[in-house]
Amino acid sequence: MAVMAIAVVAQSTGVVLSKSPLFRNGIRSFPPFSVRFSSSASTVSSTLHSAGKPCRHKWRTAVASLVERGGVQIARDDVVRDEPTNNIPDTIFTKIGMQLHRRNQHPIGILKNAIYDYFDTNYANKFDKFDDLSPIVSVKENFDDVLVPPDHVSRSYNDTYYIDPQTVLRCHTSAHQAELLSKGYKHFLVTGDVYRRDSIDSTHYPVFHQMEGVRVFRPIDWESSGKDGTTYAAEDLKKCLEGLARHLFGAVEMRWIDTYFPFTDPSFELEIYFKEKWLEVLGCGVTEQEILNRSGNADDVAWAFGLGLERLAMVLFDIPDIRLFWSSDERFTSQFSGGQLGMKFKPFSKYPPCYKDMSFWISESFTENNLCEVIRGVAGDLVEEVTLIDNFTNKKGMTSHCYRITYRSMERSLTDEEINDLQWNVREQVESKLNVVLR
Ligand code: DAH
Repeated sequence: MAVMAIAVVAQSTGVVLSKSPLFRNGIRSFPPFSVRFSSSASTVSSTLHSAGKPCRHKWRTAVASLVERGGVQIARDDVVRDEPTNNIPDTIFTKIGMQLHRRNQHPIGILKNAIYDYFDTNYANKFDKFDDLSPIVSVKENFDDVLVPPDHVSRSYNDTYYIDPQTVLRCHTSAHQAELLSKGYKHFLVTGDVYRRDSIDSTHYPVFHQMEGVRVFRPIDWESSGKDGTTYAAEDLKKCLEGLARHLFGAVEMRWIDTYFPFTDPSFELEIYFKEKWLEVLGCGVTEQEILNRSGNADDVAWAFGLGLERLAMVLFDIPDIRLFWSSDERFTSQFSGGQLGMKFKPFSKYPPCYKDMSFWISESFTENNLCEVIRGVAGDLVEEVTLIDNFTNKKGMTSHCYRITYRSMERSLTDEEINDLQWNVREQVESKLNVVLR
């Protein structure tokens, strides 16, 4: 889990499928990277990184040197580098360019198209749509341009994938707001894959998909209403998004929650009452004036929203595990060949889980996100969940953690031998890469 910080809303942002405080008021509680990376081999990225080394392990498969899918061409060397300021593993590189959101017969693509339909029906030809912008963005675009404070926890190497100190894999589609506004776009939707380091369970995966929406108003739009620009934009935003929620979920009960995002003021979350639970659907708000001023829209006001497509798709299609979105198993993919909302996923089988515990003395640099990255590096999508089940500090001040790893394939039964082999490799990698002492 990401470093938890002072005065942070303890709950997930939900919208975006991350357990870290992210774009709320999470302030980083450790020194900036320059300090962290000036120290020894125990630093985060240097210890995690394995690029460029020969395949020493039989479980390590060769990685293509260029991903070329959906029109995006990115070389492995552009992304994975054997440098302490790079924390991108091959498992992440192989996801770049997959573009699940551009597949019309995939739940993520179907949901994107359903949202497009809503905007096309209600605002004919108004919104420009972008779904092919490169996920490699500058730190400036990802954070500074949307006013994420310099000490915000989401900037840490523990939470974000850095290619180098100035370049990241975008951790939200908000990374494109400022540039598109500067280019003169006034109404747009941006859909894309986003990347976040996180822990492992059935709703968290380090790559997922978001859609961002922005609408700019000119003074002439609100002046005759007798309202100020902010009130006008906030009302329009709520009306638009309530309509979107009804388009996707039907006649559901909804509520608005006040919240904080660095890029909007006021900021809101929309929740819907679905299957006897309040479900967070999206984050949104009236764009900070500073963002408009810097992008040449000083007289205008705007609203913006961001929503996590996996979260909504899991609910809309009854998909029980986020790993399924990446499955090429025909028993999954064939169920979405209709390309329409409204169908429910029929699980083809639930294979037995296998639990393995591991205990170790942690070091100061230990984080759960780093542990999860190492485990994913070995077990890939065969790992379903990693949970801390015991935690104590002895009289000498040494802290021990015990984690339970759940292995389960979505597609087949795993053999004992295979699981033992995975677990053995996980133990070896955890010990060598994370500077911990196994017990
Ligand atoms: N970028 C936010 C996130 O990933 C989501 C979001 C919230 C986007 C509010 C927005 C917004 O444009 O106005 O957590």
